[in-house]
Amino acid sequence: MTHSPVTTTNSGAPVSADGLSQTVGGDGVIALTDHYLVEKLAQFNRERVPERVVHAKGGGAYGTFETTEDVSAYTRAALFQKGASTEMLARFSTVAGEQGSPDTWRDPRGFALKFYTSEGNYDLVGNNTPVFFIRDGIKFPDFIHSQKRLPGSNVRDNDMQWDFWTNQPESAHQVTWVMGDRGLPASWRNMDGFGSHTYQWINAAGERFWVKYHFKTNQGIKTLTNEQAEQIAGQDADYHQRDLYEAIERGDHPSWTLYVQIMPYDDAKDYRFNPFDLTKVWPHADYPLVKVGTMTLNRNVTNYFAEIEQAAFAPSNFVPGIAASPDRMLQARIFSYADAHRYRVGTNHAQLPVNAPRVEVNSYSKDGQGRISFAAADRPVYAPNSFGGPQGDPQQAGEGAGWHSDGELVRTAASLHAADDDFGQAGTLYRDVMTDEEKARFLDTISGHVGAVRNDLIRERAVQYWTNVDAGLGAALAERLAGSGSADPVVNGTDTDGAEETADEESAA
Ligand code: HEM
Repeated sequence: MTHSPVTTTNSGAPVSADGLSQTVGGDGVIALTDHYLVEKLAQFNRERVPERVVHAKGGGAYGTFETTEDVSAYTRAALFQKGASTEMLARFSTVAGEQGSPDTWRDPRGFALKFYTSEGNYDLVGNNTPVFFIRDGIKFPDFIHSQKRLPGSNVRDNDMQWDFWTNQPESAHQVTWVMGDRGLPASWRNMDGFGSHTYQWINAAGERFWVKYHFKTNQGIKTLTNEQAEQIAGQDADYHQRDLYEAIERGDHPSWTLYVQIMPYDDAKDYRFNPFDLTKVWPHADYPLVKVGTMTLNRNVTNYFAEIEQAAFAPSNFVPGIAASPDRMLQARIFSYADAHRYRVGTNHAQLPVNAPRVEVNSYSKDGQGRISFAAADRPVYAPNSFGGPQGDPQQAGEGAGWHSDGELVRTAASLHAADDDFGQAGTLYRDVMTDEEKARFLDTISGHVGAVRNDLIRERAVQYWTNVDAGLGAALAERLAGSGSADPVVNGTDTDGAEETADEESAA
Protein backbone atom coordinates (compact mmCIF):
# COMPACT_ATOMS: atom_id res chain seq x y z
CA MET A 1 0.00 0.00 0.00
CA THR A 2 1.35 3.42 -0.93
CA HIS A 3 1.74 5.98 1.83
CA SER A 4 -0.61 8.95 1.22
CA PRO A 5 0.40 12.41 2.40
CA VAL A 6 -1.88 14.27 4.80
CA THR A 7 -4.43 16.54 3.06
CA THR A 8 -3.78 20.22 3.73
CA THR A 9 -5.60 23.52 3.26
CA ASN A 10 -4.31 25.78 0.48
CA SER A 11 -2.08 27.39 3.07
CA GLY A 12 -0.53 24.07 4.03
CA ALA A 13 -2.15 23.29 7.38
CA PRO A 14 -3.17 19.61 7.86
CA VAL A 15 -6.93 18.88 7.72
CA SER A 16 -8.62 16.24 9.83
CA ALA A 17 -11.20 14.84 7.37
CA ASP A 18 -11.71 15.01 3.59
CA GLY A 19 -15.43 14.29 3.62
CA LEU A 20 -16.89 15.63 6.86
CA SER A 21 -18.12 19.19 7.43
CA GLN A 22 -17.91 20.68 10.92
CA THR A 23 -21.39 20.82 12.54
CA VAL A 24 -22.96 21.68 15.87
CA GLY A 25 -23.63 18.13 17.01
CA GLY A 26 -24.20 15.39 14.44
CA ASP A 27 -27.52 16.84 13.22
CA GLY A 28 -26.82 20.56 13.74
CA VAL A 29 -25.96 23.40 11.36
CA ILE A 30 -22.62 23.74 9.62
CA ALA A 31 -20.22 26.20 11.26
CA LEU A 32 -19.04 29.18 9.19
CA THR A 33 -15.74 28.73 10.96
CA ASP A 34 -15.22 25.49 9.01
CA HIS A 35 -12.62 27.28 6.91
CA TYR A 36 -11.66 24.11 5.03
CA LEU A 37 -15.22 23.58 3.75
CA VAL A 38 -15.55 27.25 2.77
CA GLU A 39 -12.19 27.23 1.01
CA LYS A 40 -13.04 24.03 -0.89
CA LEU A 41 -16.40 25.33 -2.15
CA ALA A 42 -15.11 28.82 -2.91
CA GLN A 43 -12.13 27.50 -4.87
CA PHE A 44 -14.42 25.17 -6.82
CA ASN A 45 -16.68 28.08 -7.82
CA ARG A 46 -13.66 29.79 -9.37
CA GLU A 47 -12.22 26.83 -11.32
CA ARG A 48 -13.23 28.03 -14.78
CA VAL A 49 -11.82 31.00 -16.67
CA PRO A 50 -14.07 32.48 -19.38
CA GLU A 51 -13.98 30.38 -22.54
CA ARG A 52 -12.42 31.95 -25.62
CA VAL A 53 -14.98 34.24 -27.29
CA VAL A 54 -14.28 32.31 -30.50
CA HIS A 55 -12.39 29.02 -30.98
CA ALA A 56 -13.59 27.88 -27.53
CA LYS A 57 -13.50 24.14 -28.28
CA GLY A 58 -10.06 22.76 -29.02
CA GLY A 59 -7.09 20.69 -28.06
CA GLY A 60 -3.40 20.49 -28.80
CA ALA A 61 0.03 19.11 -28.13
CA TYR A 62 3.69 20.01 -27.95
CA GLY A 63 6.17 19.38 -30.72
CA THR A 64 9.33 20.40 -32.48
CA PHE A 65 9.90 22.54 -35.55
CA GLU A 66 13.04 21.71 -37.53
CA THR A 67 14.31 24.02 -40.25
CA THR A 68 15.71 21.74 -42.94
CA GLU A 69 16.27 24.28 -45.75
CA ASP A 70 18.26 27.48 -46.16
CA VAL A 71 15.82 30.41 -46.29
CA SER A 72 18.28 32.92 -44.82
CA ALA A 73 18.00 34.96 -48.04
CA TYR A 74 14.49 35.92 -46.87
CA THR A 75 14.54 36.01 -43.06
CA ARG A 76 17.05 36.39 -40.27
CA ALA A 77 14.67 34.81 -37.70
CA ALA A 78 16.73 32.33 -35.65
CA LEU A 79 14.03 29.64 -35.76
CA PHE A 80 14.11 29.59 -39.57
CA GLN A 81 17.89 29.21 -39.92
CA LYS A 82 18.88 25.84 -41.40
CA GLY A 83 19.51 23.26 -38.66
CA ALA A 84 17.53 25.11 -35.96
CA SER A 85 15.26 22.96 -33.82
CA THR A 86 12.57 24.79 -31.83
CA GLU A 87 10.15 23.51 -29.19
CA MET A 88 6.56 24.49 -29.93
CA LEU A 89 2.89 24.12 -28.96
CA ALA A 90 -0.05 23.66 -31.35
CA ARG A 91 -3.75 24.14 -30.60
CA PHE A 92 -6.51 23.15 -33.03
CA SER A 93 -10.11 24.28 -32.64
CA THR A 94 -13.50 24.84 -34.16
CA VAL A 95 -14.59 28.44 -34.35
CA ALA A 96 -18.24 29.01 -33.57
CA GLY A 97 -18.97 26.22 -31.11
CA GLU A 98 -18.69 26.61 -27.37
CA GLN A 99 -16.63 24.35 -25.11
CA GLY A 100 -18.16 20.91 -25.27
CA SER A 101 -19.58 21.37 -28.77
CA PRO A 102 -18.88 18.61 -31.30
CA ASP A 103 -15.50 18.57 -33.02
CA THR A 104 -17.15 17.57 -36.31
CA TRP A 105 -19.50 20.50 -36.93
CA ARG A 106 -18.79 22.20 -40.27
CA ASP A 107 -16.51 25.12 -39.53
CA PRO A 108 -13.02 26.39 -40.25
CA ARG A 109 -10.48 24.87 -37.87
CA GLY A 110 -8.02 26.97 -35.89
CA PHE A 111 -4.34 26.13 -36.38
CA ALA A 112 -2.53 28.09 -33.66
CA LEU A 113 1.21 27.66 -33.15
CA LYS A 114 3.57 28.97 -30.49
CA PHE A 115 7.31 28.60 -31.13
CA TYR A 116 9.54 28.96 -28.05
CA THR A 117 12.45 30.43 -30.02
CA SER A 118 15.89 31.57 -28.85
CA GLU A 119 14.74 35.16 -29.57
CA GLY A 120 11.46 35.01 -27.64
CA ASN A 121 8.08 33.50 -28.50
CA TYR A 122 6.81 33.56 -32.07
CA ASP A 123 3.06 32.86 -32.45
CA LEU A 124 1.46 32.06 -35.80
CA VAL A 125 -2.29 31.97 -35.23
CA GLY A 126 -3.80 30.60 -38.42
CA ASN A 127 -6.57 28.37 -39.71
CA ASN A 128 -6.93 25.35 -41.97
CA THR A 129 -7.96 27.70 -44.80
CA PRO A 130 -5.77 30.27 -46.58
CA VAL A 131 -8.43 33.00 -46.70
CA PHE A 132 -11.07 34.57 -44.48
CA PHE A 133 -14.64 35.91 -44.57
CA ILE A 134 -13.88 39.61 -44.26
CA ARG A 135 -11.04 41.98 -45.06
CA ASP A 136 -11.41 44.60 -42.34
CA GLY A 137 -11.21 43.73 -38.62
CA ILE A 138 -13.88 46.27 -37.71
CA LYS A 139 -16.43 43.79 -39.13
CA PHE A 140 -15.27 40.88 -36.97
CA PRO A 141 -17.69 41.29 -34.03
CA ASP A 142 -20.66 41.57 -36.45
CA PHE A 143 -19.49 38.52 -38.33
CA ILE A 144 -19.12 36.45 -35.17
CA HIS A 145 -22.47 37.60 -33.79
CA SER A 146 -24.12 36.38 -37.02
CA GLN A 147 -22.57 32.93 -36.62
CA LYS A 148 -23.23 32.40 -32.90
CA ARG A 149 -26.66 32.29 -31.23
CA LEU A 150 -29.83 34.36 -31.35
CA PRO A 151 -30.25 36.39 -28.17
CA GLY A 152 -33.78 35.14 -27.47
CA SER A 153 -33.96 31.48 -28.46
CA ASN A 154 -30.20 30.89 -27.96
CA VAL A 155 -30.07 28.79 -31.13
CA ARG A 156 -27.85 29.24 -34.15
CA ASP A 157 -29.68 30.63 -37.12
CA ASN A 158 -29.21 30.18 -40.86
CA ASP A 159 -31.01 33.45 -41.58
CA MET A 160 -28.40 35.41 -39.60
CA GLN A 161 -25.53 33.55 -41.22
CA TRP A 162 -26.70 34.00 -44.79
CA ASP A 163 -27.89 37.54 -44.17
CA PHE A 164 -24.38 38.49 -43.11
CA TRP A 165 -22.59 36.57 -45.85
CA THR A 166 -24.78 37.78 -48.70
CA ASN A 167 -24.45 41.35 -47.45
CA GLN A 168 -20.64 40.87 -47.46
CA PRO A 169 -19.72 39.53 -50.91
CA GLU A 170 -16.03 39.46 -49.87
CA SER A 171 -16.98 36.34 -47.84
CA ALA A 172 -17.61 34.25 -50.98
CA HIS A 173 -14.16 32.69 -51.28
CA GLN A 174 -14.04 31.56 -47.65
CA VAL A 175 -17.66 30.35 -47.63
CA THR A 176 -16.80 28.24 -50.70
CA TRP A 177 -13.94 26.68 -48.73
CA VAL A 178 -16.02 26.02 -45.65
CA MET A 179 -19.02 24.55 -47.51
CA GLY A 180 -16.62 22.33 -49.49
CA ASP A 181 -15.13 19.04 -48.32
CA ARG A 182 -12.45 20.72 -46.24
CA GLY A 183 -15.08 22.21 -43.93
CA LEU A 184 -15.28 18.72 -42.40
CA PRO A 185 -11.73 17.44 -41.76
CA ALA A 186 -11.53 13.76 -40.73
CA SER A 187 -9.05 14.71 -38.01
CA TRP A 188 -6.77 17.55 -37.03
CA ARG A 189 -3.90 15.38 -38.29
CA ASN A 190 -5.46 15.22 -41.75
CA MET A 191 -5.70 18.92 -42.50
CA ASP A 192 -3.32 21.61 -43.73
CA GLY A 193 -2.63 24.81 -41.82
CA PHE A 194 -2.11 28.33 -43.12
CA GLY A 195 -0.82 31.59 -41.70
CA SER A 196 -3.49 33.04 -44.05
CA HIS A 197 -2.34 36.67 -43.77
CA THR A 198 0.53 38.13 -45.71
CA TYR A 199 3.39 38.67 -43.27
CA GLN A 200 6.74 40.35 -43.66
CA TRP A 201 10.14 38.65 -43.55
CA ILE A 202 13.38 40.62 -43.19
CA ASN A 203 16.83 39.15 -43.89
CA ALA A 204 20.16 39.93 -42.21
CA ALA A 205 20.87 42.65 -44.78
CA GLY A 206 17.57 44.37 -43.92
CA GLU A 207 15.87 43.39 -47.20
CA ARG A 208 12.09 42.91 -46.89
CA PHE A 209 9.79 40.32 -48.43
CA TRP A 210 6.08 39.52 -48.21
CA VAL A 211 5.36 35.94 -47.16
CA LYS A 212 2.50 33.46 -46.81
CA TYR A 213 2.79 30.27 -44.73
CA HIS A 214 1.48 26.82 -45.77
CA PHE A 215 1.74 23.80 -43.45
CA LYS A 216 1.05 20.71 -45.57
CA THR A 217 -0.08 17.65 -43.65
CA ASN A 218 2.16 14.61 -44.11
CA GLN A 219 -0.77 12.37 -43.11
CA GLY A 220 -2.67 13.34 -46.28
CA ILE A 221 -5.91 15.32 -46.51
CA LYS A 222 -8.93 13.35 -45.32
CA THR A 223 -12.43 14.68 -44.89
CA LEU A 224 -15.84 13.51 -43.64
CA THR A 225 -19.16 13.56 -45.45
CA ASN A 226 -22.06 15.50 -43.93
CA GLU A 227 -23.63 12.21 -42.84
CA GLN A 228 -20.44 10.92 -41.18
CA ALA A 229 -19.83 14.23 -39.42
CA GLU A 230 -23.38 14.38 -38.06
CA GLN A 231 -23.27 10.80 -36.84
CA ILE A 232 -19.92 11.30 -35.11
CA ALA A 233 -21.16 14.56 -33.55
CA GLY A 234 -23.87 12.55 -31.83
CA GLN A 235 -21.59 9.72 -30.75
CA ASP A 236 -18.37 11.43 -29.72
CA ALA A 237 -18.22 15.21 -29.41
CA ASP A 238 -14.48 14.96 -28.69
CA TYR A 239 -13.64 12.88 -31.75
CA HIS A 240 -10.75 15.06 -32.98
CA GLN A 241 -9.36 15.66 -29.51
CA ARG A 242 -9.34 11.91 -28.83
CA ASP A 243 -7.76 11.12 -32.19
CA LEU A 244 -4.79 13.46 -31.67
CA TYR A 245 -4.23 12.41 -28.07
CA GLU A 246 -4.32 8.70 -28.85
CA ALA A 247 -2.09 9.01 -31.92
CA ILE A 248 0.60 10.77 -29.91
CA GLU A 249 0.27 8.30 -27.01
CA ARG A 250 0.89 5.36 -29.36
CA GLY A 251 3.94 7.09 -30.88
CA ASP A 252 2.25 7.96 -34.17
CA HIS A 253 3.53 11.53 -34.28
CA PRO A 254 1.76 13.72 -36.87
CA SER A 255 3.89 16.08 -38.93
CA TRP A 256 3.47 18.94 -41.37
CA THR A 257 5.93 20.36 -43.91
CA LEU A 258 6.16 24.14 -43.91
CA TYR A 259 6.35 25.91 -47.25
CA VAL A 260 6.24 29.65 -47.84
CA GLN A 261 5.35 31.81 -50.79
CA ILE A 262 7.71 34.75 -51.10
CA MET A 263 6.79 38.00 -52.85
CA PRO A 264 9.57 40.56 -53.38
CA TYR A 265 8.74 43.76 -51.50
CA ASP A 266 8.34 45.92 -54.62
CA ASP A 267 5.92 43.51 -56.35
CA ALA A 268 3.12 44.37 -53.91
CA LYS A 269 2.41 47.84 -55.24
CA ASP A 270 1.46 46.78 -58.75
CA TYR A 271 0.39 43.18 -58.24
CA ARG A 272 -2.85 42.54 -60.09
CA PHE A 273 -4.88 42.28 -56.90
CA ASN A 274 -4.21 43.59 -53.42
CA PRO A 275 -1.72 41.08 -51.97
CA PHE A 276 -2.72 42.07 -48.42
CA ASP A 277 -6.38 41.15 -48.94
CA LEU A 278 -7.12 38.18 -46.67
CA THR A 279 -9.93 36.99 -48.95
CA LYS A 280 -7.37 36.13 -51.66
CA VAL A 281 -4.74 33.46 -52.24
CA TRP A 282 -1.60 34.03 -54.27
CA PRO A 283 -1.47 31.69 -57.28
CA HIS A 284 1.43 29.29 -57.04
CA ALA A 285 2.25 30.06 -60.65
CA ASP A 286 3.17 33.59 -59.56
CA TYR A 287 4.77 32.69 -56.23
CA PRO A 288 5.76 29.02 -55.94
CA LEU A 289 6.07 27.16 -52.67
CA VAL A 290 9.50 27.29 -51.04
CA LYS A 291 10.19 24.53 -48.50
CA VAL A 292 11.32 25.55 -45.00
CA GLY A 293 11.12 22.60 -42.60
CA THR A 294 9.00 20.17 -40.61
CA MET A 295 6.74 20.46 -37.58
CA THR A 296 6.17 17.26 -35.61
CA LEU A 297 3.80 16.93 -32.66
CA ASN A 298 5.30 14.45 -30.25
CA ARG A 299 4.18 15.14 -26.68
CA ASN A 300 0.75 15.37 -25.08
CA VAL A 301 0.09 17.94 -22.41
CA THR A 302 -0.21 16.61 -18.88
CA ASN A 303 -2.75 19.17 -17.68
CA TYR A 304 -5.34 20.40 -20.19
CA PHE A 305 -6.29 23.49 -18.19
CA ALA A 306 -2.74 24.65 -17.53
CA GLU A 307 -1.36 23.98 -20.98
CA ILE A 308 -4.28 24.37 -23.42
CA GLU A 309 -6.98 26.42 -21.71
CA GLN A 310 -4.48 28.93 -20.35
CA ALA A 311 -2.43 28.96 -23.56
CA ALA A 312 -2.46 32.44 -25.03
CA PHE A 313 -1.60 32.66 -28.74
CA ALA A 314 -1.16 36.21 -30.02
CA PRO A 315 -0.46 37.44 -33.56
CA SER A 316 1.43 40.29 -31.86
CA ASN A 317 4.16 37.88 -30.75
CA PHE A 318 6.80 38.41 -33.42
CA VAL A 319 10.55 37.82 -33.34
CA PRO A 320 13.33 39.68 -35.20
CA GLY A 321 13.12 38.88 -38.92
CA ILE A 322 9.30 38.50 -38.96
CA ALA A 323 6.79 41.36 -38.87
CA ALA A 324 3.32 42.60 -39.79
CA SER A 325 2.01 43.80 -43.15
CA PRO A 326 -0.57 46.32 -44.35
CA ASP A 327 -3.32 43.63 -44.01
CA ARG A 328 -5.92 45.44 -41.86
CA MET A 329 -7.25 42.17 -40.47
CA LEU A 330 -3.80 41.31 -39.15
CA GLN A 331 -3.44 44.74 -37.61
CA ALA A 332 -6.78 44.41 -35.80
CA ARG A 333 -5.69 41.01 -34.50
CA ILE A 334 -2.43 42.44 -33.22
CA PHE A 335 -4.50 44.44 -30.75
CA SER A 336 -7.27 41.93 -30.14
CA TYR A 337 -5.56 38.78 -28.87
CA ALA A 338 -3.30 40.21 -26.17
CA ASP A 339 -6.31 42.22 -24.98
CA ALA A 340 -8.42 39.03 -24.87
CA HIS A 341 -5.68 37.33 -22.86
CA ARG A 342 -5.53 40.10 -20.28
CA TYR A 343 -9.30 39.63 -19.78
CA ARG A 344 -9.56 35.84 -20.14
CA VAL A 345 -6.39 34.61 -18.44
CA GLY A 346 -5.14 37.69 -16.60
CA THR A 347 -2.73 40.59 -16.76
CA ASN A 348 0.25 38.35 -16.19
CA HIS A 349 -0.75 35.52 -18.55
CA ALA A 350 2.70 35.68 -20.17
CA GLN A 351 4.28 34.40 -16.93
CA LEU A 352 2.32 31.13 -16.87
CA PRO A 353 4.56 28.17 -17.76
CA VAL A 354 2.82 27.42 -21.09
CA ASN A 355 3.15 31.02 -22.24
CA ALA A 356 6.50 31.94 -20.71
CA PRO A 357 9.31 32.34 -23.24
CA ARG A 358 12.33 30.09 -22.85
CA VAL A 359 14.59 33.19 -22.78
CA GLU A 360 15.19 35.74 -20.04
CA VAL A 361 12.47 38.40 -19.85
CA ASN A 362 13.84 41.90 -19.21
CA SER A 363 10.77 44.09 -19.59
CA TYR A 364 9.85 47.05 -17.41
CA SER A 365 6.38 45.61 -16.74
CA LYS A 366 5.68 45.09 -13.06
CA ASP A 367 3.08 43.95 -10.56
CA GLY A 368 -0.60 43.25 -11.35
CA GLN A 369 -2.88 40.35 -10.41
CA GLY A 370 -1.33 36.91 -10.36
CA ARG A 371 2.26 38.06 -10.86
CA ILE A 372 4.62 35.25 -9.89
CA SER A 373 8.03 36.36 -11.10
CA PHE A 374 9.74 39.57 -10.06
CA ALA A 375 12.91 41.40 -11.07
CA ALA A 376 15.70 41.73 -8.51
CA ALA A 377 15.03 44.45 -5.92
CA ASP A 378 18.02 46.52 -7.07
CA ARG A 379 16.93 46.50 -10.73
CA PRO A 380 15.72 49.95 -11.91
CA VAL A 381 11.97 50.04 -12.61
CA TYR A 382 12.12 52.85 -15.18
CA ALA A 383 14.03 53.67 -18.37
CA PRO A 384 16.22 55.46 -19.11
CA ASN A 385 18.19 55.01 -15.88
CA SER A 386 21.77 55.39 -14.73
CA PHE A 387 22.02 52.04 -12.93
CA GLY A 388 22.49 49.39 -15.61
CA GLY A 389 18.83 48.55 -16.32
CA PRO A 390 17.87 46.91 -19.66
CA GLN A 391 18.27 49.05 -22.79
CA GLY A 392 16.66 48.67 -26.21
CA ASP A 393 19.02 47.67 -29.03
CA PRO A 394 17.89 48.27 -32.62
CA GLN A 395 20.51 45.87 -33.94
CA GLN A 396 19.35 42.92 -31.85
CA ALA A 397 15.69 43.72 -32.43
CA GLY A 398 16.35 43.65 -36.18
CA GLU A 399 14.87 47.09 -36.89
CA GLY A 400 13.84 47.62 -40.48
CA ALA A 401 10.44 45.97 -40.45
CA GLY A 402 7.88 48.35 -41.90
CA TRP A 403 6.58 49.70 -45.17
CA HIS A 404 6.10 52.98 -46.95
CA SER A 405 2.76 54.59 -46.27
CA ASP A 406 1.37 58.11 -46.36
CA GLY A 407 -1.96 59.80 -46.87
CA GLU A 408 -4.92 61.36 -45.11
CA LEU A 409 -6.49 59.68 -42.07
CA VAL A 410 -9.58 58.18 -43.74
CA ARG A 411 -12.22 55.43 -43.48
CA THR A 412 -12.13 53.89 -46.92
CA ALA A 413 -11.38 50.63 -48.72
CA ALA A 414 -7.74 49.63 -49.20
CA SER A 415 -5.97 50.90 -52.31
CA LEU A 416 -7.42 49.38 -55.44
CA HIS A 417 -5.52 47.02 -57.72
CA ALA A 418 -6.63 46.20 -61.26
CA ALA A 419 -8.10 42.75 -60.58
CA ASP A 420 -9.60 43.26 -57.11
CA ASP A 421 -12.99 41.57 -56.87
CA ASP A 422 -15.06 39.44 -54.50
CA PHE A 423 -16.11 36.43 -56.55
CA GLY A 424 -13.30 35.53 -58.97
CA GLN A 425 -11.22 33.22 -56.78
CA ALA A 426 -14.33 31.59 -55.30
CA GLY A 427 -15.46 30.76 -58.83
CA THR A 428 -12.07 29.34 -59.76
CA LEU A 429 -12.08 27.21 -56.61
CA TYR A 430 -15.52 25.81 -57.48
CA ARG A 431 -14.97 25.35 -61.21
CA ASP A 432 -11.31 24.41 -61.55
CA VAL A 433 -10.27 22.84 -58.26
CA MET A 434 -13.29 20.80 -57.13
CA THR A 435 -13.86 17.43 -58.79
CA ASP A 436 -17.35 16.57 -60.06
CA GLU A 437 -18.01 14.58 -56.87
CA GLU A 438 -16.88 17.49 -54.71
CA LYS A 439 -19.10 19.84 -56.70
CA ALA A 440 -22.09 17.55 -56.13
CA ARG A 441 -21.44 17.42 -52.37
CA PHE A 442 -20.93 21.18 -52.35
CA LEU A 443 -24.33 21.76 -53.98
CA ASP A 444 -25.94 19.39 -51.46
CA THR A 445 -24.39 21.29 -48.58
CA ILE A 446 -25.30 24.80 -49.70
CA SER A 447 -28.83 23.72 -50.69
CA GLY A 448 -29.25 22.30 -47.20
CA HIS A 449 -27.94 25.47 -45.58
CA VAL A 450 -29.80 27.96 -47.71
CA GLY A 451 -32.84 25.68 -47.61
CA ALA A 452 -33.02 26.28 -43.86
CA VAL A 453 -33.24 30.06 -44.36
CA ARG A 454 -36.80 31.26 -43.65
CA ASN A 455 -36.61 34.78 -45.07
CA ASP A 456 -37.35 34.91 -48.84
CA LEU A 457 -35.22 37.98 -49.45
CA ILE A 458 -32.17 36.33 -47.91
CA ARG A 459 -32.80 33.14 -49.92
CA GLU A 460 -32.96 35.20 -53.12
CA ARG A 461 -29.78 37.02 -52.22
CA ALA A 462 -28.09 33.67 -51.54
CA VAL A 463 -29.01 32.47 -55.03
CA GLN A 464 -27.57 35.69 -56.49
CA TYR A 465 -24.42 35.29 -54.36
CA TRP A 466 -23.75 31.79 -55.75
CA THR A 467 -24.71 32.95 -59.25
CA ASN A 468 -21.97 35.57 -58.93
CA VAL A 469 -19.56 32.79 -57.96
CA ASP A 470 -20.68 30.60 -60.88
CA ALA A 471 -23.79 31.04 -63.03
CA GLY A 472 -24.36 27.28 -63.34
CA LEU A 473 -24.06 26.81 -59.60
CA GLY A 474 -26.57 29.59 -58.91
CA ALA A 475 -29.05 28.04 -61.37
CA ALA A 476 -28.63 24.58 -59.82
CA LEU A 477 -29.19 26.00 -56.35
CA ALA A 478 -32.32 27.87 -57.47
CA GLU A 479 -33.66 24.66 -58.96
CA ARG A 480 -33.01 22.70 -55.78
CA LEU A 481 -34.65 25.33 -53.63
CA ALA A 482 -37.68 25.53 -55.91
CA GLY A 483 -37.96 21.74 -55.98
CA SER A 484 -37.87 21.04 -52.30
CA GLY A 485 -38.79 24.31 -50.67
CA SER A 486 -36.27 23.40 -48.04
CA ALA A 487 -33.64 20.81 -48.83
CA ASP A 488 -32.30 18.83 -45.87
CA PRO A 489 -31.80 21.74 -43.51
CA VAL A 490 -28.35 21.86 -41.96
CA VAL A 491 -28.74 24.02 -38.95
CA ASN A 492 -25.60 23.61 -36.95
CA GLY A 493 -22.84 23.48 -39.33
CA THR A 494 -21.47 26.85 -40.11
CA ASP A 495 -18.55 28.69 -38.94
CA THR A 496 -17.19 31.80 -37.49
CA ASP A 497 -13.94 33.49 -37.19
CA GLY A 498 -11.58 31.22 -38.98
CA ALA A 499 -10.75 30.41 -42.52
CA GLU A 500 -10.04 27.12 -44.24
CA GLU A 501 -8.64 26.26 -47.57
CA THR A 502 -9.73 23.51 -49.91
CA ALA A 503 -7.59 21.84 -52.47
CA ASP A 504 -7.20 25.22 -53.91
CA GLU A 505 -4.72 27.94 -52.96
CA GLU A 506 -4.04 27.75 -56.66
CA SER A 507 -7.47 29.19 -57.17
CA ALA A 508 -6.58 32.75 -58.06
CA ALA A 509 -6.70 32.85 -61.80
C1 HEM B 1 -9.06 33.12 -31.33
C2 HEM B 1 -10.22 37.67 -32.46
C3 HEM B 1 -9.50 36.74 -37.16
C4 HEM B 1 -7.67 32.44 -35.94
C5 HEM B 1 -9.47 34.43 -31.24
C6 HEM B 1 -9.78 35.11 -30.01
C7 HEM B 1 -10.09 36.37 -30.33
C8 HEM B 1 -10.00 36.51 -31.75
C9 HEM B 1 -10.46 37.51 -29.36
C10 HEM B 1 -9.74 34.48 -28.61
C11 HEM B 1 -8.34 34.58 -28.07
C12 HEM B 1 -8.20 34.00 -26.69
O1 HEM B 1 -9.08 34.21 -25.85
O2 HEM B 1 -7.16 33.34 -26.44
C13 HEM B 1 -10.10 37.83 -33.83
C14 HEM B 1 -10.31 39.06 -34.56
C15 HEM B 1 -10.13 38.80 -35.88
C16 HEM B 1 -9.79 37.39 -35.98
C17 HEM B 1 -10.64 40.42 -33.93
C18 HEM B 1 -10.22 39.70 -37.08
C19 HEM B 1 -9.80 40.94 -37.09
C20 HEM B 1 -8.88 35.52 -37.25
C21 HEM B 1 -8.25 34.99 -38.42
C22 HEM B 1 -7.73 33.78 -38.07
C23 HEM B 1 -8.04 33.55 -36.68
C24 HEM B 1 -8.16 35.70 -39.77
C25 HEM B 1 -6.93 32.81 -38.90
C26 HEM B 1 -6.31 33.12 -40.00
C27 HEM B 1 -7.90 32.27 -34.60
C28 HEM B 1 -7.49 31.09 -33.87
C29 HEM B 1 -7.89 31.28 -32.54
C30 HEM B 1 -8.54 32.57 -32.49
C31 HEM B 1 -6.77 29.87 -34.43
C32 HEM B 1 -7.71 30.30 -31.40
C33 HEM B 1 -6.35 30.46 -30.79
C34 HEM B 1 -6.12 29.40 -29.74
O3 HEM B 1 -6.07 28.21 -30.12
O4 HEM B 1 -6.04 29.75 -28.56
N1 HEM B 1 -9.65 35.30 -32.30
N2 HEM B 1 -9.81 36.83 -34.72
N3 HEM B 1 -8.74 34.62 -36.20
N4 HEM B 1 -8.52 33.14 -33.75
FE1 HEM B 1 -9.21 34.95 -34.24
